[in-house]
Amino acid sequence: MLRELAENFRPVAPPRLIEEAYSEDQHRRLLQVVRDKGPWPLILAENFSSPEEVIATTSGEVPEGVELTWDMIGLNPVFRGYLARGGVCFYPELEDCYYNSRFLELVREYADCQYAEPETYLFNIQGPSPIGGPPHLDGTVFRGMTMENTPLWLLLTMAKSCLFRKWQARKGQVIAWYYQGKIGGGFNCWPDGPSGEPMQINAPMWGRAVVVENEMMFHHGQACGPVASRQPRGLDISSTFGADPADSAGWQIETFGEVNQKVPAEEMRFLVHWGARLFKNMDEVRVAYDHTDDINAEMALNMLMDDMRKRGIQFEEPSDPMQDRKFIALLSQVYDIGGPTNIPADATDEAA
Ligand SMILES: [Fe+2]
Repeated sequence: MLRELAENFRPVAPPRLIEEAYSEDQHRRLLQVVRDKGPWPLILAENFSSPEEVIATTSGEVPEGVELTWDMIGLNPVFRGYLARGGVCFYPELEDCYYNSRFLELVREYADCQYAEPETYLFNIQGPSPIGGPPHLDGTVFRGMTMENTPLWLLLTMAKSCLFRKWQARKGQVIAWYYQGKIGGGFNCWPDGPSGEPMQINAPMWGRAVVVENEMMFHHGQACGPVASRQPRGLDISSTFGADPADSAGWQIETFGEVNQKVPAEEMRFLVHWGARLFKNMDEVRVAYDHTDDINAEMALNMLMDDMRKRGIQFEEPSDPMQDRKFIALLSQVYDIGGPTNIPADATDEAA
């Protein structure tokens, strides 16, 4: 494990805390979209279709003869929806939230960049939930290599290897929370690198937000809500989160037409993630949009293989590296950089 690489993951500046990220009216419109256009799928549903796939990316093997069910895995009940993609805002009533001059100014200042463009807009919504997995880095892209032409495993490996910073897109986010619950529900992050002290932004929060660079800073959401309600029974990968038709402010989790859990407004945690691409100056804008210095998969794989040779790792050069499962497994093993281990304890009902 290349733990020393993990220490490179420090954001361009410490998180900046702001309050009243959205006006009351903007927040009302955001929530209205979430109520009216839902219900919303699990975050996990974006990437996985069977419990075996989840196991394969985490602890490894499924014992022979055991048929896995979603209940055995304990699906994290956090749901997601998208509000925009690139230049396109999906809901006209949210255009002022997305093409947001205040946020653009905040991220430009944060990263000391002259130019910014809004790029991602999504929300997470949940009731009581366990901690949001181990601390992680948000996925990143490189000039010439993005989710549109490159598999996720290669983008992740490139980011972790720290060999491709020259091509890595600069990004900044404004992450806002609305959570009135009394137990947990905040945000943990490691602005001084994974061996540094964690920084905690604690709930209750109503429009509190951080300006951050989450591709370069380990982070995760805290557990929230009463411990006994954090793992609703009978969840499936197809479970959804949406408005409770019987309660004008309440929510519910539903699976195969049955309600698994009612989530009252005061236990609902709503995170709004706004992300921008940043450019230091006009030269960077040109290099990106004129594609004068892009990287491609062949260059990237050759650089990774050179790096492994320098590290003394023995391997057979694959004839088709993009399809070679053994080679892909080797890369993920070599560039496993770990992450923070000093994770603050979960808030529990007793501490409330
Ligand atoms: Fe994240």
